[in-house]
Amino acid sequence: MIFREQDLALWEVAKVHLNVRNNDEHTQFSYYLAKELCQFYPDADIEVVLPAIIFHDTGWSKIPKEKILHAFGPNNKYPELTRQHELESVAIAQDALVKLGFSNEQITAIVALIDGHDTTKNSRSLNDAIHKDADKLWRYTPHGNKIIGEWFEISQDEVLTILEDFVLPTFLTDEGKRLSNMMLEIAKINQQF
Ligand SMILES: [Fe+2]
Ligand SMILES: [Fe+2]
Repeated sequence: MIFREQDLALWEVAKVHLNVRNNDEHTQFSYYLAKELCQFYPDADIEVVLPAIIFHDTGWSKIPKEKILHAFGPNNKYPELTRQHELESVAIAQDALVKLGFSNEQITAIVALIDGHDTTKNSRSLNDAIHKDADKLWRYTPHGNKIIGEWFEISQDEVLTILEDFVLPTFLTDEGKRLSNMMLEIAKINQQF
């Protein structure tokens, strides 16, 4: 089981909103990767990072379906919708976390990571850096490679070139940098066979 016992109730609420853009799958990989990254950073707050990653992309469910695939990535036609999915995710998380009994203080810390997770690029805190790195690390998994190729109708070689040239330099934590490099190298070896 990927999810910790205490996160199952959050997942049950979030997954209803994650039925577009392979977000239900993406979220499970990023949740696992966030949990792994937190092991390396005792100062990070896993009780903030994991709830945030569960809800971070729920807002895509509120964006017109035909525009979703044009609202992120290298040729983003609708940057305002990239922003809107963050705000919709914040609203969904806020509502769900109140109902699940989270304190105001916890909710503020969690939605602070969701708000701006794609539209800000810098590390706003250690929790934020881990959350952003876990979100991006999914792209380096076999599942991420495949889905990105399908989204942008590009070959696996092209996917790996983008991950190497444009995404690798954006990792914020040392461990995120190490893992992304390692996963890229493995994907490149895999391409030879
Ligand atoms: Fe996002
Ligand atoms: Fe994401």
